[in-house]
Amino acid sequence: MSKVAIVTGAGRGIGRGIALKLAKELDYNIVVVDIDEESASSVAQEIKNVGKDAIAVKCDVSNNEDVERMVEKSFEFGEVDAVVNNAGITRDSLLLKMSEKDWDMVLNINLKALFLINKAVCSKWVSECKKIAEDLGEDRPAPSAYPKRKIVNISSIVAKGGNVGQANYVSSKAGVIGLTKTIAKEMSRYNVNCNAVQPGFIKTPMTDKMPEKIINKFIAAIPLQRMGLPEDIAGSVKFLCSPDSDYITGFSIEVDGGLDM
Ligand code: CAA
Repeated sequence: MSKVAIVTGAGRGIGRGIALKLAKELDYNIVVVDIDEESASSVAQEIKNVGKDAIAVKCDVSNNEDVERMVEKSFEFGEVDAVVNNAGITRDSLLLKMSEKDWDMVLNINLKALFLINKAVCSKWVSECKKIAEDLGEDRPAPSAYPKRKIVNISSIVAKGGNVGQANYVSSKAGVIGLTKTIAKEMSRYNVNCNAVQPGFIKTPMTDKMPEKIINKFIAAIPLQRMGLPEDIAGSVKFLCSPDSDYITGFSIEVDGGLDM
């Protein structure tokens, strides 16, 4: 049975790039998770077209019932051994104009969702590990007794230095780094690696809606003199899901063209 990766926010942009790369280059079957069912189905079809299997699951990642249903479906689909928490939104405005609703929405989708999904998936993995330990007749075997599992959480480069107009987004993405390091420490005994990727300024539907003058300001500040592409992020996620990174956990890779050196 092929291994399975769950990728959230995979209907477009960076998530779609990650889902396709993991299917094509790491031989994963993919659970394509998105709030938009149509785009999730279309990416699932793209994955099938390259010879791997995929299911599309509509899910509001900030809703625990939706998350539990999505995780159940994923484990029925196959042996889940990687999760990429990519779904995220922006609701930019200056602090003094930011509404409580926009604060809550961004924190719920960008940070609380990762708590819900990682908790639900890790709970399944730990149950499996407990069975393995029982079969071995050992209380706490070494992590290597268990299958290697990978979590990759998508943060942002702005988590490092803040960004004007993004108090909610930056707070959520800085939280992702803290959550990643904590999960890495708690779950290493079950052979789960948990790492993050911090994208810089990437060309996606999210950045397409930014004012042109701000886009140009960003590009002028990037040493590699271009916006990143979803494939640039997918490459580092592929590394963190592959055996090449089996000894890396609690780490974050900055993929930003040098924007924040
Ligand atoms: N520093 C300090 N104050 C600033 C500022 C800055 N860089 N930019 C704006 N302001 C303040 C100033 O007081 C300004 O008044 P002046 O005209 O006197 O300069 C005032 O804001 C009004 O500015 P705007 O007319 O631009 O205000 P606005 O309310 O229309 O928009 C904004 C503000 C929402 C922050 C807008 O500028 C914006 O959308 N900025 C982009 C935010 C951004 O960088 N988003 C990143 C998206 S990409 C992403 O999120 C992915 C990732 O992971 C990196």
